[in-house]
Amino acid sequence: MDHSGPPEVNVEQMRHPYKDKRQAFTEDQLVAREPFGQFRDWFNQACATPAILEPNAMCLSTATADGRPSARFVLLKGFGHDGFRFFTNYESRKAAELDSNPRAALTFYWEALNRSVRVEGSVSRLPEDVSEQCWSSARRSWRGGHADGSPVPRPNWGGYIVRPHTVEFWQGQSNRVHDRIRFRRVDENGESAENGESEENWEQQRGRLRLYRHRSGDPGHQLTPRL
Ligand SMILES: Cc1cc2nc3c(=O)[nH]c(=O)nc-3n(C[C@H](O)[C@H](O)[C@H](O)COP(=O)(O)O)c2cc1C
Repeated sequence: MDHSGPPEVNVEQMRHPYKDKRQAFTEDQLVAREPFGQFRDWFNQACATPAILEPNAMCLSTATADGRPSARFVLLKGFGHDGFRFFTNYESRKAAELDSNPRAALTFYWEALNRSVRVEGSVSRLPEDVSEQCWSSARRSWRGGHADGSPVPRPNWGGYIVRPHTVEFWQGQSNRVHDRIRFRRVDENGESAENGESEENWEQQRGRLRLYRHRSGDPGHQLTPRL
C-alpha cells in the first residue's frame, strides 16, 4: 500500500499548549533522588487535582515472547519501593503474555498537570494471600455475594507487581526541551541492572544532556555530574 500521500484524516494542527518554557522541569524540582519518592509526590498531586478523575489509571503494555505488543488500561492498586501493583484475571490475554514474557511497561498520563510517568520493569505475581485479601476487600466494597448471602469465591484472579528498572518523569513544555528526567537502576559499577537485587542505586538523566549518579546512602541532594 502506498503511504506517501496525505492521510485520510489529518490532525497535524491539533495541539494543546503545554507549560511555558520558563517553567522548565529541572532537577531542583525533584523531591527525591530515587523514583519512588518522586512518583509519590506527583501521584499525590494528581490525586489532589479534581480534573483528574482516575489518577491511578495506567496503560499496561505487555508483549508475547516473540515481541508482539499489546496495551490496555488497568488501575494501580498500590506502590512502594518493591514496585507497582495491579490486579487482573489470570486467564486474560495480558496474563498469558506475562506468563511467557514477564516484562511490562506502565504509562500514566495526567493531562491536567501536563505530566506523564513511564515505568519499565520485570513482573511477578503477588502471593495468593495478598490477592485473596484484595479480592475480599473489593467484594466488601461492592457488597458482592450470592443472593443467599454466601460470598463469591475468588475466580482465577490476582495481583502482579512491576519492579522497575527505569522510571521516567515527563512534564510538557511548549518548546519540548529538557522535559524529561529518567531514573535507571544501576549496579555498583554504574552498569544497567535490570534484574538487580534489592540494591537501590539509581542513575538519573535529564533530557539528553547531563547524567547524574545517585547511590543509596548518598546525601540526598549532592549529585555528581558523570558526563
Ligand atoms: C480506566 C480503566 C481501568 C481498568 N482497570 C482494570 C484493572 O484494574 N484490571 C483489569 O483486569 N482490567 C481493567 N480494565 C479493563 C482492561 O483495560 C482490559 O480491557 C481487560 O483487562 C482485558 O485486557 P486483556 O485482554 O489485554 O488481558 C480497565 C479499563 C479501563 C479503561
